[in-house]
Amino acid sequence: MSEKRNKTLLHCTVNGKERDDVVKDNLLLADYLREEIGLTGTKIGCDGGECGCCTVLIDGVPQHACLRLAATCQEAEIETIEALAEQNRLSALQRGFHEKLGTQCGFCTPGMIMAAEGMLRENPNPSEDEIRQGLAANLCRCTGYVKIIEAVQFAIDELGSKGKAA
Ligand code: FES
Ligand code: FES
Repeated sequence: MSEKRNKTLLHCTVNGKERDDVVKDNLLLADYLREEIGLTGTKIGCDGGECGCCTVLIDGVPQHACLRLAATCQEAEIETIEALAEQNRLSALQRGFHEKLGTQCGFCTPGMIMAAEGMLRENPNPSEDEIRQGLAANLCRCTGYVKIIEAVQFAIDELGSKGKAA
């Protein structure tokens, strides 16, 4: 039997920068981002696809980085929470979470914001029900969700005249 290959040369874009990294085939995307690249904004909560803390955008779509192997992200565009602030100015969603107290312990917040970011790119003016649906894969143990909804609505209002997501 031939020896199994266990590493892959991964070419992808992370937060706008092209990368080539040799990664183990069993390396999770969450661990690749946090440990190989140092982007620790992406959190790991359940490590099993249940909490949404690890949500990042892959080709613009919110996905759980704890359920994805890095090696399967060949040619993908990956965005993490670190990508949102521009020139040290928080994005509208980030400001919303700050202004509306949508974050308490903060552990769920990066995943919440990335899920909301993906949702607003798809639908810039979601109803409250649509916001709740868009964040249904993300759990928060602190806020009771009301402030999170208000934070997203704050961002929608801020972005309303610009016609673009955070
Ligand atoms: S850490 Fe990925 S869903 Fe919980
Ligand atoms: S702010 Fe603590 S889990 Fe959401």
